[in-house]
Amino acid sequence: MSVKPSKPEASTMWGGRFDAGPSEVMSRINASIDFDKRLYAQDIRASKAHCEMLVRQKIIAAADGTAIQAGLDKVLAEIEAGTFEFKTALEDIHMNVEGHLKDLIGDPAGRLHTARSRNDQVATDFRLWVRDALDALEIGLRDLQAALLDQAEKHFDAIMPGYTHLQTAQAVTVGHHLLAYVEMIGRDRSRAADCRKRMNESPLGSGAIAGTSFPIDRHFTAQALGFDRPMANSMDGVSDRDFALEYMALASILAVHLSRLAEEIVVWMSEPFGFVKLSDAFTSGSSMLPQKRNPDAAELVRAKTGRVIGSLNSLLIVMKGLPLTYSKDMQEDKEPTFETADTLALCVAAMTGMLKDMTFRTDRLAAAVNAADTTAIDIADWLVREKSVPFREAHHVAGRLVKLAETKGCRLAQLSLADLQSVEPGLTEAARAVLDVNAALQTRTSFGGPAPSRVKEACADARERFLG
Ligand code: ARG
Repeated sequence: MSVKPSKPEASTMWGGRFDAGPSEVMSRINASIDFDKRLYAQDIRASKAHCEMLVRQKIIAAADGTAIQAGLDKVLAEIEAGTFEFKTALEDIHMNVEGHLKDLIGDPAGRLHTARSRNDQVATDFRLWVRDALDALEIGLRDLQAALLDQAEKHFDAIMPGYTHLQTAQAVTVGHHLLAYVEMIGRDRSRAADCRKRMNESPLGSGAIAGTSFPIDRHFTAQALGFDRPMANSMDGVSDRDFALEYMALASILAVHLSRLAEEIVVWMSEPFGFVKLSDAFTSGSSMLPQKRNPDAAELVRAKTGRVIGSLNSLLIVMKGLPLTYSKDMQEDKEPTFETADTLALCVAAMTGMLKDMTFRTDRLAAAVNAADTTAIDIADWLVREKSVPFREAHHVAGRLVKLAETKGCRLAQLSLADLQSVEPGLTEAARAVLDVNAALQTRTSFGGPAPSRVKEACADARERFLG
């Protein structure tokens, strides 16, 4: 006698049309609960607002509404206490919450989904989640700017080499260098604020695709959830994922910024540079070489940029060519977005920590400036200013002086007046004076420049603009 394998039971959510449940592999590819459980707080919040609206609009009875609200509170408490059992059979967070609501309050639970689809539900929950992520990011970025600014203020006048092509170009100040990052992070914050503003519209009430015949109040639910307004078009409401893409795009630019600073820290910590020191708290040793101190945190911030850019790419590719409106493809929006938020939070915190921990070795920074002829430009400028020499010609003279110093095996600033005059008789002792790097730095007072007097002002201005 052969025993028929028992078929999995049809879903309690749409069992009417189905005789049997999904195969094991269908269940594995289809279920999202393992990752979308992270939407639980937003899901319950949105359900409570929807329920309140249903009661106000007399779409469901007040008594059912009360039972649903209390039940949702209980579900939330259980999830937060870690006692909630997430079930793969219930696919996703939406059905897990509703399923357990049914266990807790019975029949009224079945009324919560009136005039709603998982399509507008997930779009709403996910928007709320990304909005929370943007709010958390704003706090992290402010702290990061504060850490940069604290160091910039402390070292507003500490001379250091400024590079182009990673070749020593001109002297700048540590404060000036760090303020460049303050500006970059400032733009990241402003992109995040723009994104938040644009995304802050409610999809709830879009239904599956075409709204509903029930007299819902989308303005009420939008307001209850802190959205500025309901989304204007129900088809757009359920199919738009621009907000997640935009979030990951700004996250990618931010991650690139962090990676650039991370790379500088790696370079600055390397032995030939030796510009900064990090303590035991942000470095690690080598298992073999006892003398090593490695900038692992900076290297990892640099590397994790790959995850963020990869996440943006992955969702762009998911969304490309999808017809309106919802397709299950879009369930693939969450993991990259969560990955982005987790990675950013960690990297921003690590960068802030490193900046607070960092000691600048001002002696090494000054020595590095003196190891290059950064004031060749000052001789050329002197000739332009004092002798009305056209800049191109003056550039040549300065170039010949650099060459002379090279042949003599000394630095430009070490050439004697006679040396200078052998190349250009018009050069005087005053011209020689402009070769001093510190003096040259003090003259870089143009707006946005590195002269300590400017940097001091710029720090105050940045503090006011970004942290005021
Ligand atoms: N878990 C689904 C997602 O994240 C929820 C929406 C499902 N909608 C549907 N029509 N199957 O996209």
